Amino acid sequence: MIYSRIVGTGSYLPPKVMTNHDFAARLETSDAWIRERTGIVQRHIADKSQTSSDLALEAARQALKAADVKADAIDLIIVATSTPDFVFPSTACLLQAKLGTKGSAAFDVQAVCSGFVYGLATADAMIKSGAYKKALVIGAEVFSRILDWNDRGTCVLFGDGAGAVVLAAGDKPGIHASVLRADGSYAGILSVPGNVCGGNITGSPFLQMDGQAVFKFAVRVLDESARETLAAAGMKVEDVDWLIPHQANVRILEATARKAGIAREKLVVTVDHHGNTSAASVPLALDEYIRAGKIRPGERVLLQGVGGGFTWGSSLVTL
Ligand code: UT7
Repeated sequence: MIYSRIVGTGSYLPPKVMTNHDFAARLETSDAWIRERTGIVQRHIADKSQTSSDLALEAARQALKAADVKADAIDLIIVATSTPDFVFPSTACLLQAKLGTKGSAAFDVQAVCSGFVYGLATADAMIKSGAYKKALVIGAEVFSRILDWNDRGTCVLFGDGAGAVVLAAGDKPGIHASVLRADGSYAGILSVPGNVCGGNITGSPFLQMDGQAVFKFAVRVLDESARETLAAAGMKVEDVDWLIPHQANVRILEATARKAGIAREKLVVTVDHHGNTSAASVPLALDEYIRAGKIRPGERVLLQGVGGGFTWGSSLVTL
């Protein structure tokens, strides 16, 4: 039996930091409101010159170094992003060129904030099939580009960044189980309902959200997804050492852990200093906790995504 295993992680945050006070100086909001409702204190914002593939490149290089794997040994690149560099080619192909390699499969996954978990589950299945041996799975986003900076209800929530893992074929798991779900009837509660047509933007190029509906939906499906994935892996909640849900809002994270019966000390929280980085949030959090020596080899981590679509999913992973 072939399994896949995370053998290295990496991440990148653009140097520019924007604090809640920076928002309060230009919008009718306050540090207290943002902290209380979301737990967010600061977020990183990409420079105009930086694209998702640039952020992905930095994260990928770190992950390859941590895994001690050369870029040309990678035979599969999956980039999860809702803020691609172009309509096409894919950000994954642009990243492959920036890595200076040729010939691997390379494609993007579009599942918004669940994108990394969707990408990880896809790469896991492709490795388990025997067709691929080493994959780079990356979440990379410049959400700052799709925000209405005058809409205090949304612009304070998000940040930019990238996180990456190297996944390699092995003879023990690795990834125990992944469960992916979607319900397109909820498309309207979180969207960027615009497109490029005839040289113009049709619809809106900005993120729109029904915050309370998203909040309730996220807590419900993250709990269901945790249970479904543990059942698929034949494990119990006590077998989980760390819970890394999509970093959207501290209140969503704490409610999810509470509902799932996972202790607060096992909950990974980085949204306070990253903001919501969409598809990048889970691998960014994973890399930060691994580099800090908090998540250690052999520990079991439940990774969870939820986002526009609506999409959601979880992967149970032994590191
Ligand atoms: O990847 C998934 C992405 N989405 C999310 O994670 C969003 C999930 N939802 C949430 O995190 C919360 O719903 C929010 C943080 C977005 C909002 O918190 P809330 O407790 O649901 O507040 P609310 O939307 O009910 O708004 C309460 C009040 C409103 O004023 P009124 O109508 O009561 O006078 C808003 O206009 O807060 C106001 N408000 C703000 N006030 C200060 C909304 N945004 C702000 C702001 N600063 N930034």
